[in-house]
Amino acid sequence: MLVKPTVFTVLGLLQCYAVSATDIRLVGDKTPYSGRLEVKYNGKWGTVCDDDFTVNSAKVVCRMLGFTDTETAKYIQPSVYGPGNGNILLDSLNCLGNETDIADCSHQAWEATDCSNSEDIGVDCRTHMRIEQGSTPHDGQVEVNITGIWQPLCADNFTQSEANVICRMLGYSANGSYVMSARSTADLSSISSTAYNCTGNEIDISMCRKRLATCSASTVAAVNCTTPIRIVNGTSQQSGRVEVFHNDAWGTVCDDNFDDMEAKVICRMLGFGTRLEEWNIVICLSH
Ligand SMILES: *[C@@H]1O[C@H](CO)[C@@H](O)[C@H](O)[C@H]1NC(C)=O
Ligand SMILES: *[C@@H]1O[C@H](CO)[C@@H](O)[C@H](O)[C@H]1NC(C)=O
Ligand SMILES: *[C@@H]1O[C@H](CO)[C@@H](O)[C@H](O)[C@H]1NC(C)=O
Ligand SMILES: *[C@@H]1O[C@H](CO)[C@@H](O)[C@H](O)[C@H]1NC(C)=O
Ligand SMILES: *[C@@H]1O[C@H](CO)[C@@H](O)[C@H](O)[C@H]1NC(C)=O
Ligand SMILES: *[C@@H]1O[C@H](CO)[C@@H](O)[C@H](O)[C@H]1NC(C)=O
Ligand SMILES: *[C@@H]1O[C@H](CO)[C@@H](O)[C@H](O)[C@H]1NC(C)=O
Repeated sequence: MLVKPTVFTVLGLLQCYAVSATDIRLVGDKTPYSGRLEVKYNGKWGTVCDDDFTVNSAKVVCRMLGFTDTETAKYIQPSVYGPGNGNILLDSLNCLGNETDIADCSHQAWEATDCSNSEDIGVDCRTHMRIEQGSTPHDGQVEVNITGIWQPLCADNFTQSEANVICRMLGYSANGSYVMSARSTADLSSISSTAYNCTGNEIDISMCRKRLATCSASTVAAVNCTTPIRIVNGTSQQSGRVEVFHNDAWGTVCDDNFDDMEAKVICRMLGFGTRLEEWNIVICLSH
């Protein structure tokens, strides 16, 4: 339900606006910061048509999701995240870019549309990041694509806090992140000239403090993003229930959230062979 702004007058001098923000979410990708745009109206979730949708509207969406720096905001063609199955709630949404809520932007009346679900728009708020040239898919040098090309990240004052943010952005646990010794890169001219100073709790590196880095003779930031793992309540160090740290909580491998975990990976992480049963560890692989 959209609540209209309410105006309270205090002593006739001060006006406080109690505005209820529109609920929005991005659906269908690995992180909550990219996906098909969905809005809630009258208690129901629905989608937004791509007609008139510009990068300015994407910026407002990303601002609503907590991104202070909306430079990386983009809209994504409907085919990428696929059609939603709810109603199309907003059509011809067209923001200037400075609004704090998409409901404040120009749009047709809620639920009035001539669009089909094949026109459901997507939004991406993330800074594109990857780790390359490591010995596993979860370690290596950090690269960002902000300018349209992949650039290695400057290791200037690169610490645990920045590594936490990077591993979390890549879908790993911030708790399992390690700074690896900086690597030299053949092409120093391609290194990003921006360095970041994070508290460690940011959900995207664009939210960290930025500064111009002096990387000409420097090296490239590198991380090792591991999944924290432990065995609890067993009779020895090698038996018990396997738990992994994911989404800020310890959980068992049987939980739906961990359905992509495979026993052999866990065994390797624990330094065992591939036959967990021998160690009396119960892992539920199907549900
Ligand atoms: C947004 O910018 C326009 C002009 O570009 C201005 O008229 C409007 O007041 C601004 N809105 C807000 C919420 O700042
Ligand atoms: C970098 O990002 C831009 C914009 O999203 C994209 O078009 C381009 O393909 C990316 N570059 C590479 C090398 O992936
Ligand atoms: C790293 O930051 C410190 C201040 O915290 C500064 O003195 C130092 O020069 C910085 N290192 C580089 C390589 O810029
Ligand atoms: C994960 O990291 C947070 C923040 O550093 C800390 O408060 C928490 O105790 C850690 N959790 C585990 C299980 O290590
Ligand atoms: C990073 O920010 C903190 C304060 O948030 C500051 O104390 C520290 O010096 C900064 N480090 C660099 C390298 O700028
Ligand atoms: C990454 O960290 C894990 C856990 O500490 C360690 O076993 C592994 O060797 C590390 N990988 C690299 C490439 O440093
Ligand atoms: C281990 O078992 C004890 C007693 O059954 C229980 O209180 C405790 O919470 C368990 N620990 C974990 C980490 O599950």
